[in-house]
Amino acid sequence: MIIMLKRLQRKWQVSTTQFILILCVFAITGTTTAWISKAITSWVGFTDETYWLWKVLLRLSILIFGYQAILLPVAFLFGQFPFFWKYEKKILKRLGIPIPQTGSHVIPIAVFASGTGTNAQKIIDFFRQHPTIQVALIVSNKPDAGVLKIAGKEKIPTLIIKKEPFFNGNGYVDELANHGIQWIILAGFLWKIPVPLLKAFPNRIVNIHPALLPKYGGKGMYGHFVHEAVLAAQEKETGITIHYVDDQFDHGAPIFRQSCPVEPNDTPEDLAKKVQALEHKHYPEVIESVIEGRMPGAAVGARGTRVRPLQADE
Ligand code: GAR
Repeated sequence: MIIMLKRLQRKWQVSTTQFILILCVFAITGTTTAWISKAITSWVGFTDETYWLWKVLLRLSILIFGYQAILLPVAFLFGQFPFFWKYEKKILKRLGIPIPQTGSHVIPIAVFASGTGTNAQKIIDFFRQHPTIQVALIVSNKPDAGVLKIAGKEKIPTLIIKKEPFFNGNGYVDELANHGIQWIILAGFLWKIPVPLLKAFPNRIVNIHPALLPKYGGKGMYGHFVHEAVLAAQEKETGITIHYVDDQFDHGAPIFRQSCPVEPNDTPEDLAKKVQALEHKHYPEVIESVIEGRMPGAAVGARGTRVRPLQADE
């Protein structure tokens, strides 16, 4: 039971206090709905003789609609409205019920990528039905990058950037502002981020690296170069690091890290597969947590592995 609860807490990525408050909201909503359902049934005048189907239908509709209606006010009283509203919106979207969204509720993000874009695809998939976060722009420095094909297929606007304006101009800040971009997500983007962009997006640029930083990062450390270096150093484990971006390659305050073992006969391709699986699994969820302010720098592992929180200067 305790293990199940801990798993749930990790899935929701909330603090222990918030987790307890959320459980209270569920308990109080459940009890109140059951009580109201009983009261309404007797108020309507249903007795033991009433046809069973009417009783079931009435109880079910109170449980389904009443529960949802009671949940949000109770959540509000416990200071948990944002948490429950997010899930309610997901449910409504799945039911095909449109949620009126004012522009200010949508958080447009840009994904920067130079390569194939498998991570970009996972991010797009994850946020496709998201109530607030929206992949609004794909940015690439390579006109033939696979990620641009993905953008075309997904009908997401693209921006192809050039070296000169990126490094010696204002870093395309105006173009990003035109798309209303609020966060930048690097997913295999191989250029350093220039100062104007860092200043325009303070602590709002996130990168993923296919190794346990600070090892095996820096200029030229990407793709198979990383995995070859890990094997050459006879490391016992490798993994992924997700971190805020600063003015150096693969550097900046760490957010999340997850490791996987390196087996004696592993090839660079084997490591690439294992690391990519970790990236696809964790990156979208971590992005969501960071943007929603639920992960301010602590590193949380998955499936029972709590990874030591990293220090910004590690
Ligand atoms: C990913 O493995 C990502 O960690 C890496 O580029 C790859 C992009 O793959 N990023 C870096 O190495 C940053 N230094 P994808 O195009 O299949 O998403």
